[in-house]
Amino acid sequence: MRILVVGSGGREHSLCWAIAKSPLCDKLFCAPGNAGIAEEAELVAIGAEDIEALVVFVKTQNIDFVVVGPEGPLVMGLADRLREQGVSVFGPSAAAAALEGSKAFAKEIMMEAGVPTAAYAEFSDASAAKAYLNDQSLPIVIKADGLAAGKGVIIAETLSEAEQAVDDILVAEQFGAAGAKLIIEEFMAGEEISFFALMDGKSSVALASAQDHKAVGEGDKGLNTGGMGAYSPAPALPDARRAEIMKLVIDPVAKAMVARGTPFQGVLFVGLMMTTSGPKVLEFNVRFGDPECQVLMTRAMTDVLTALIATADGVLDSFDLRWKDEAALNVVMAAEGYPGSYRKNTVIKGVRQADSLANVKVFHAGTAKSENGDLVSIGGRVLGVTATGADVKAAQKCAYEAVDQLDWPEGFCRRDIGWRAV
Ligand code: AMP
Ligand code: GLY
Repeated sequence: MRILVVGSGGREHSLCWAIAKSPLCDKLFCAPGNAGIAEEAELVAIGAEDIEALVVFVKTQNIDFVVVGPEGPLVMGLADRLREQGVSVFGPSAAAAALEGSKAFAKEIMMEAGVPTAAYAEFSDASAAKAYLNDQSLPIVIKADGLAAGKGVIIAETLSEAEQAVDDILVAEQFGAAGAKLIIEEFMAGEEISFFALMDGKSSVALASAQDHKAVGEGDKGLNTGGMGAYSPAPALPDARRAEIMKLVIDPVAKAMVARGTPFQGVLFVGLMMTTSGPKVLEFNVRFGDPECQVLMTRAMTDVLTALIATADGVLDSFDLRWKDEAALNVVMAAEGYPGSYRKNTVIKGVRQADSLANVKVFHAGTAKSENGDLVSIGGRVLGVTATGADVKAAQKCAYEAVDQLDWPEGFCRRDIGWRAV
């Protein structure tokens, strides 16, 4: 088969790495990819959100199967455009990707499906939103409706902070069209966990548990990031809890989407808060988490490509998805300053040495090759140093041994990834 992966992060590198191992894969392309992905796939210089150019490439190159990594192109309708052309795709239609693309839509589906979540109200008028705020308890959560690169959620401790957030979103239009609406949501306390399921519209399969660390600093302190590391399995999600979440969240959402005529096909990533009154949904993502995907791909025993095709073909019910017994842990190397502003084009050395250690794979995120052949950083999250071991503790030790092989003074990582599990 001729396969195209869309995206350029550590998630896409791990997907390409897993897909390239499949005997079904004859030729693998990645658009636009990165310096590490170039070792698994032929890079195509088309941006992940350049829908028209991607459709043309898929047709002219006779691509059989497309795997879409990030949410942006899914929300923009890439999967629909490709399916119209008769191409098989892993990833939801725009109508189903709205579960991530619109927080108001996600809430509507949760209400319809009876999925436990925080109480909320939806507004497009600032004065109505402020009037509602007057009767709410603090802290309170304000969310821009659309995609806002992880910056559209404000947890306000005071009424004036909450009113400011409403003005920033609806009046100053800080998030542009993504902030044409907002939701105001009850604050939930508890431990946050992630849950992933493959869904084909008819049946759904839970993936192995995986948990990321969102905060930039050790001890899970400091600013929120896209994820500074991840591990699998996650002790917070034993089998019984995964079964509970399938019943409580995945199955009802799958049904509600089918009832609307817009079945969800792809991977649904559910963010949950473990509250004193049980798990409640924080948000949906319509893609793999990154770096969670990197540990999941490392632990997959089943041919990942066949699992993605089974999802696209709607035959998950007869598919047996298996995972290795070993644990995996990923440490993200980020550019100093991330998640604030950071330098680009700093030279990274030692990746080969790290990668050559037993049970280690270094996935690339924001990397490129400079004109003179150096590996340079071009993003905030730059590498995902991923290791396996008998348990999370052994994988952690191995991952940090690999991190210590790197020579990149302008980079940093957290030294405590996996602490909850070791
Ligand atoms: P979201 O993009 O909706 O997951 O929000 C980003 C982050 O904000 C989450 O990972 C939580 O840490 C936090 N958050 C969102 N909604 C709530 C809520 N209702 N209560 C407490 N924290 C929340
Ligand atoms: N690691 C969280 C995410 O991918 O959104």
